Amino acid sequence: MKKVEAIIRPEAFQELRQSLDEMGVKGLTVSEVAGCGQQKGQEGIFRGSRFEIKLYPKVKVEMVLEDHDLGSVIDTIINTCATDEVGDGKIFVSTIDEVFRIRTGETGKQALI
Ligand SMILES: Nc1ncnc2c1ncn2[C@@H]1O[C@H](COP(=O)(O)OP(=O)(O)OP(=O)(O)O)[C@@H](O)[C@H]1O
Ligand SMILES: [Mg+2]
Repeated sequence: MKKVEAIIRPEAFQELRQSLDEMGVKGLTVSEVAGCGQQKGQEGIFRGSRFEIKLYPKVKVEMVLEDHDLGSVIDTIINTCATDEVGDGKIFVSTIDEVFRIRTGETGKQALI
């Protein structure tokens, strides 16, 4: 299983949600976050003087998927969230060891859907 963490523009979320729903991805976790990328990350002086780190509002979408669904989910995120302007966001992928549905104790594939 893989976990996808996509940090996207807030205004891209509704369309992404709809596309994911249409491809059968139902389970996801969404957080409102703030962050910065390469540009405008840091500014100013520490201790005493002006210190401003400019953070941009983003939405973080987390999904745990079976390995074989990863490619199409990544494609969908890129296709719906890319504007070609800086700040479109990032996608992080990691490996998940196990999942449990708390209500039933199911694990693995059974617990994912
Ligand atoms: N290395 C990172 N680790 C954790 N979060 C990151 C990292 N890079 C970017 N982010 C998160 O992704 C958000 C969007 O980043 P952003 O799109 O500006 O990336 P970028 O690398 O600067 O690309 P771009 O050139 O398109 O702006 C940031 O606001 C931050 O929340
Ligand atoms: Mg950036």
